[in-house]
Formats: sequence, structure tokens, C-alpha cells
Amino acid sequence: MTAPLDTAGLSDAESTPLDAIDVSDPRLYQDDVWQPYFARLRREDPVHYCPQSSYGPYWAVTKYKDIMQVEVNHQVYSSASELGGIQIEEQPKDMDRPSFIRMDPPKHDEQRKVVSPVVAPANLANMEGMIRERTVHVLEGLPRNETFDWVDRVSIELTTMMLATLFDYPWEDRRQLTYWSDVAIANVNSPEAPVHSEEERFAELQKMAQRLGALFSERAQMPPRFDLLSMLAHGEATRAMPIREFMGTLALLIVGGNDTTRNSMTGGLMALNEYPEEYEKLRGNAGLIPGMVSEIVRYVTPVIHMRRTAKEDAELGGKHIRKGDKVTIWYVSGNRDPDAIDDPDCFTIDRPRPRQHLSFGFGIHRCVGNRLAELQLRILWEELLPRFPVIEVVGPARRVYSNFIHGIRSLPVRIPA
Ligand code: HEM
Repeated sequence: MTAPLDTAGLSDAESTPLDAIDVSDPRLYQDDVWQPYFARLRREDPVHYCPQSSYGPYWAVTKYKDIMQVEVNHQVYSSASELGGIQIEEQPKDMDRPSFIRMDPPKHDEQRKVVSPVVAPANLANMEGMIRERTVHVLEGLPRNETFDWVDRVSIELTTMMLATLFDYPWEDRRQLTYWSDVAIANVNSPEAPVHSEEERFAELQKMAQRLGALFSERAQMPPRFDLLSMLAHGEATRAMPIREFMGTLALLIVGGNDTTRNSMTGGLMALNEYPEEYEKLRGNAGLIPGMVSEIVRYVTPVIHMRRTAKEDAELGGKHIRKGDKVTIWYVSGNRDPDAIDDPDCFTIDRPRPRQHLSFGFGIHRCVGNRLAELQLRILWEELLPRFPVIEVVGPARRVYSNFIHGIRSLPVRIPA
């Protein structure tokens, strides 16, 4: 799909001097015009130094193989909170909230091990029936012949239910989890953000820690159970976290299991509507669903970038990275790299190797929940297809102002009667 250029007064991708290209501008993603900027960088300057941005100087790594090189070399490219963490935008020092995604080994590995059983294959198999039942319930309640917001009625509803299950959170209050997820990832400069300063964000996340902290303390007194709070409360490496680490860990688990899958649920429907011949292929063969799910996750790329900090001088793609440099890896770009993926700008539901993409990252931080996300998406499409062979997108999507989460705020759709 060719994206419209210059919609927000951004400079043109081809005529901008190379060193003025700054892919950290959140408008690129809100207006969905990021593609040509990355195409140019991959072609002309794959490991790109941006000397000036709202977040200071940084390297932008844009090709699949270079991104992989950063991901697998955590000895050099650190995720540590105290060096700046995993986003181009740093959390203010006195409000930073470490969690295992913002740590290096050994602490990262110890904490990750505490929660990973929740998404182990046996537990996923146990959860499948329940996820299907809830999905069917949500789908059966959708209106016919009437425009409604897919994001709110389907994507948010389903992922929020999943989160409430993972945390064993009071069912009727489950949208609080969605709210805290939005708070955790909001760009505070966006007028639509639920919070408008770092102080406000911190205060809301303190409320989250209080509410979930009460449940955590209760579960610490009870025998271990199979929910995230109980696991954290009983885990050797997590049972006595300092308050800001507790806040960070909760935010990681809430955002991890929420926004990303939510946006894949919305983005998949949009992609099928953009590519009617693929939608037709799917209607003719439900066996394509598992491969399509991976293609959706690639095409949507729900996490736009990750950031690392160089702990020593290094060579990357012929460039000299210095100790202390901020190195950003752009999954949206790696997933559109023609040297790694054939016809990468096309949405093709029957690709030969659909799981070959960067959306879940790689190396020691590779997404814990990737199989759960795939399961939720597979069930959604298995239940959607026989019920509603046609779901029309009837208006433009509203996208989130963010350079981190590739989010869709709303999508008007209609299911013909
Ligand atoms: C389509 C859905 C999802 C996408 C695209 C996604 C993407 C990612 C990415 C890019 C990373 C960082 C990888 C790296 O740095 O190499 C990550 C890490 C993580 N994800 Fe996901 N995720 C998804 C769903 C989930 C779900 C459902 C959960 C929870 C149940 C989850 C929990 C986590 C956690 C805890 C981490 C940190 C892992 C670590 O640092 O070791 N994610 N995810």
C-alpha cells in the first residue's frame, strides 16, 4: 500500500537530507506515513545516526540482520533501566520503573523464569477452551447492519478478559487493567493520552500498584496458584521487589498481554479489508488461519521499536558505535526488509515461512507471551470466519500518537445482516 506523504507537515522522505531523517517522530506512526522513511534508510544508511531529536542523539538500526545482531548481543547492547532502558524516550530518573524487560542477566533470567509457566504449552492447552468460550460470547453479542467500533467491542474486550484471567483479577473491574495499560504506554504529549505528565503517570501507576499489591499480599499468604500475582508473590526473585520495580513489573505484564494483541486483532481485520483477494483466499480455506496469524503479527508489527545502550565500543553494519550510545532497533523496518522477507510490503496469508519476522523480538528478551498471543488470534479467526464471512471496514482507523506501540484507537466496522 502506498502511504500518503506529508500529511502532517512532515518533511518528504526522499528529499530530506539524510542526517535530518528522524524516525522517532510519533506523527509518522499516527499518520501511518513511516514506510518511505525506513525504505530510504534501509537503502542508503541502514545503521543511521540521527544527531538531533526530541530524545537526543541516537542510532536507528533498520535492517533485519543488523537488528538481529543487536538482539543477540546483550553483552554489548544492554536493556538496563539504569542505562536508559528499552525505549528511545527515557523514564525520568526519580520515577523510573525497572522490570525484567529493562534488565540484563542474571536478574532478568531469574525474574522471567518466575512468570513464564503461565504461558507454558500445558497451560495454554488448559486455557484454550475458556478463551474460545469467551470469544464466542463476545462475537455473538456484536450488532448486525450497524456501525460499531471494532477496537472497543472486540479487541479491547477480548484482551482485557485475557488479562483478568492471567492476573485472576476481579472480573467486573477488568477495564481498570486496560486503563493502566493505556497509562503505562501513553505519550504524555498527546492530547488524547489519559495522563499529561510523568508525575500524573506515576501517580496513576501507584494506584495500580496499591490495588494489585493488596491482591499480591493476599496471595502471598495462600498456597501458590497459577496466576501471575500468585507466581510473583511466591517467586524467590520477585516476592520482595522494591515498590518502583513492583510497579514496572506489573506494567510490563499488563502492557505485554494487552496492547500488542489488541492491535493485532484490529490490524488483522484492516489488512484483510485492504487485501480483498487474501480475504477471499481465507474464506475458501480456514486451514490458512495459523499461518495468517503470524502474517498479521508481522504486517501489523505491534511494537515499533526497542532501545539498547552500548556498554562498550562496537562495530555494527560498518559503523562505529561508542560506549554509552543509544541504539534503537526498528521492528517496523526489519519486518519490511526485502533482503529478509519476499514482497514485504504485501499482506500475504500463505507465506512459506510466516513465523520469520521480528515482531516478537529475538534473543533473551524474546516475547514471553508469543504463543498465547497466537492462540488468542487463532481462536478469534476460527470463530469469526464461520459466523461473519464479511466484516466491512467502513471508515478510517484512528491511530495512536506513539513511536513505541503501534496502536489503533478506533476502527468503524459493519457486519452485514
Ligand atoms: C502480538 C502480540 C505481542 C507482541 C507483538 C509482543 C511483542 C513483544 C516484544 C517485541 C518484546 C521484546 C522482545 C525483545 O526485546 O527482543 C516482548 C517482550 C515481552 N512480552 Fe510480548 N508481545 C505480544 C504479546 C504478549 C503477551 C500476550 C504477553 C503476556 C502474556 C507478553 C509478555 C511479554 C513479556 C513479559 C516480555 C518481556 C520478556 C523479557 O524481557 O524477557 N507479550 N513482547
